[in-house]
Amino acid sequence: MRLDKLVAELTGMTRSQARDVITKGRVCVNGDVRKTIAEQVKEDSDVLTLDGEKLTFQKFVYYMLNKPAGTVSATKDNEARTVLSLLSSEDKKRRNLFPVGRLDKDTEGLLLLTDDGILSHQLISPKKHADKLYFAKLIREITEEDVKVFASGMKVDEELTAMPAVLRTLTEQEKEIFLPEGGCAAAVTLQEGKFHQVKRMFAATGNEVLYLKRMAMGGVTLDETLLPGEYRPLTEEEVQTLRDSVKEK
Ligand code: URA
Repeated sequence: MRLDKLVAELTGMTRSQARDVITKGRVCVNGDVRKTIAEQVKEDSDVLTLDGEKLTFQKFVYYMLNKPAGTVSATKDNEARTVLSLLSSEDKKRRNLFPVGRLDKDTEGLLLLTDDGILSHQLISPKKHADKLYFAKLIREITEEDVKVFASGMKVDEELTAMPAVLRTLTEQEKEIFLPEGGCAAAVTLQEGKFHQVKRMFAATGNEVLYLKRMAMGGVTLDETLLPGEYRPLTEEEVQTLRDSVKEK
């Protein structure tokens, strides 16, 4: 494998960050400084260090699941099916795979599964401002006033004052796909994920969520070819998009 690719994989850096540390002479292969980014290295036997620290191979896996209703976003549950039960037996054997944050049992849509604890933590931390986009079927249409209330950082209830959120109507195209049977719907983008947050925010404006689906998270959009219960690995670009979404802004 090329040296810059391997350094990027081992550290989670972008390829250009990896090139930068290599050309600065901070990377050693088997004890010798190497500055040629395209040099071929053996990922299974060469020992790489960065600033003297050994880089150990720890390839994480990232999946997107179209979570079906009726499953719980947990690794274990005594009564209900967990999202992990949807994985193939080979993927189930991977140690430490877990869902990134939680969706309610009746919520569907994008749920990321990974064994990368650091990225997962960053994606759900409100401080990192990664966007989560939901489409909601509602009992009534949203109003201009609702949009303002969501944007203002509303007091939802005694326990929750929400960060500012973007509320909007769906485009005709979105509505056709999300609600072909017709009805009221809206899209909301949040940067946090408190318990039942979307449902509580709509309830605080006198509305009610009848059905909720997460469409995107950290810039990665649910692959609509995935039926509920299906999953696929993220592409390298999608993993990079997630990383970019939690970089200091
Ligand atoms: N907000 C909710 O109310 N439920 C979810 O599952 C996710 C966000």
